[in-house]
Formats: sequence, C-alpha cells, structure tokens
Amino acid sequence: MNVSIIGGGIIGLSVAWRLIDRGARVTVHDPGGVDGAWHVAAGMLAPGRESGFEDPALITLLDESARRWPDFAGRLGTDVGFDTSGTLGVALTADDAAEAGRFWPAERLGPTALREREPALSPRLRAGVHLPADRQVDPRRVVAALRARLRGHLVPECVGKATDLDADVVVVAAGCGTADLTGLPVRPVKGQLLRLRGEPGLLRHVIDGAADGRHVYLVPRADGEVVVGATQEELGDRTVTAGGVLDLLRAAVDLVPALADFALAETTAGHRPGTPDNMPLLGTLPRYARGGAAGPRIVVAAGHHRNGILLAPITADLIADLVLTGRADPSLAPFDPGRFECD
Ligand code: GLY
Repeated sequence: MNVSIIGGGIIGLSVAWRLIDRGARVTVHDPGGVDGAWHVAAGMLAPGRESGFEDPALITLLDESARRWPDFAGRLGTDVGFDTSGTLGVALTADDAAEAGRFWPAERLGPTALREREPALSPRLRAGVHLPADRQVDPRRVVAALRARLRGHLVPECVGKATDLDADVVVVAAGCGTADLTGLPVRPVKGQLLRLRGEPGLLRHVIDGAADGRHVYLVPRADGEVVVGATQEELGDRTVTAGGVLDLLRAAVDLVPALADFALAETTAGHRPGTPDNMPLLGTLPRYARGGAAGPRIVVAAGHHRNGILLAPITADLIADLVLTGRADPSLAPFDPGRFECD
C-alpha cells in the first residue's frame, strides 16, 4: 500500500513510522521547518489534566497513550528526555489552592512537605500535590529522532488542496493547516512559551502551578533548561508579547524564586490545533467513509490541541490500523471527523 502523509509534525511522523514498521510504502510531505506545535510544546505527559473538563472518551485515549509512551520512547533508540519524576501541582495563595485543588486527585501536601521534595519552591506556597504517574519528554528530540528514522521518506514540500498525490491513502496530519486542506474546523490556539537556562538540577519535577490566578508550568530538562509555559489565546499570530512574557516570568519566579537568576534563552509563540469540542479528529474523511468519492482515501489525524505530544503513540497505532485495514477501531468513534461539516 502507498501512503502519503501531509504534515511532518510529531503526529504525521509517528503515523509514518508505525506504517513503515507494518510494511506500507510511505512518503511524508513537509517543508521541514520548525512551524509545528511540537517545536513549542513542553512535552508534559499528563493525561486528563490539561483542561480539567475533558470528555471521558478523550481521557481514556489520553490514559492509553500515556501507557504506550515508555515503549514508544524506548523504540526510538535514542535519548529523547523521557523522564519519570512526576509532577508537583502547586498553589501560591489560598485562592489558588481552592481553584487548582479541585483537580488534584491525591492527598494535599503542605509547604514543608512540598519543599522536602523540591527545595527550590518558594516558602510562600500554600499547598500542593504529588502526581507520580506523570511523565515528560523533550518534543524537539522526539521529532529529531523520528526525522532521523524516516530519512528517505521525507519530501520537503508544501502540499496544497489541489496537489495530486499518487497514493492509495492520504493521511492529513497538518495541524492547523488541516483546515485549508479539508474544510474541517481546526483553528490556531496561540501559546507563548519561554526557555530559561541555568545550573542543571534546580528542579527535579515538572511544576504545574497556580500563582495569583495565573497558570504556569515549569518543565526542567537534565541540561539545565526549564521550559515555562504557556499562555492560551484565541489568536493566529506569532507575536511574543511583553504581557505574555511578564505573566509567565512573574508566575515562574513567584513559584521558584531562583529562576530569576537563569538566562532567558528563548521566547516563542506557536499554535495548538484546536477544534470546536477540543477533541482530536481521527478517522476517514466523511465522503470517503461513505465510499462515494474518487481518488485516494483520505484519513485525518489532527486537532490534538493541548495533547499532541501525549497522544502521538496511540494516534500512530490506531491511524495505522485504519489506513491498513480500512476499519476504524471502536475507540475512535467519538473522534470521527464526520461530527463536523467539511468540504
Ligand atoms: N500541553 C501544554 C500546552 O498546550 O500548553
């Protein structure tokens, strides 16, 4: 079977890798830059906690993908920063603790217990929780590893709606670009994000914090980088704003004062691919599902919003099944693109 994949972000590359493993002939079309959401993503693997209000079907998908990450990372065969230290959810004020605490699934820790686990946390913190099952990975390393594995399958070109692709199946995994290619409602949800650099070892856990009503996460890497993210705005531009940086830095330093001495190494803005119900689009495009359309079958794997990194392994497995067998696993039903109008 010949498969063309439009989009070489973490989703398109992961689907390609799995399809090649299963014997398909695969081409990935992508200009090869750093525009994708993966380039700004922090890489928290935290199922069910990105909005607090996810649909139960999505929570099941997130949990299952989290279970597949250790194997996925191991099979990449190179260090992709997969880390199992877990997350500390923390709250600066009593109001923050009341709000954030609604989503804490474990027993609360007081300031002393928190600082025993993570001495760099501010003594002003009110409360927190340890979430040992969370993981993290470095998305830039994952994409580099996937690109290396897929050398020879990558075509550095942009594909438009009118491009003719010589394939049995086309997988559209183009993030926000999926809207122009299919008419499906994928919109950019802007996120601004910082990278700080300093002495390695200041933090051991991911910190998922609330500070005076501002939400921030701090993702420490082994080399001393700390990713600070992220704003969430219904905007399509890539401007890094003074207000965005100020909010993130203020929250970060309120929670971990020593970060004030770190270098501000990078400021970035990117786009999460959002859908109207914040659920991904995973399945055959409706007119092909009905069997009435000419040309290659079109399968969509897009709209992963805040969970693209976490959902890469399960998306790869289930979309590869769908491409190769023509049948969708029942767990994909809630994510069928046919729930929306498209071209
Ligand atoms: N998953 C983190 C974010 O979207 O900001």
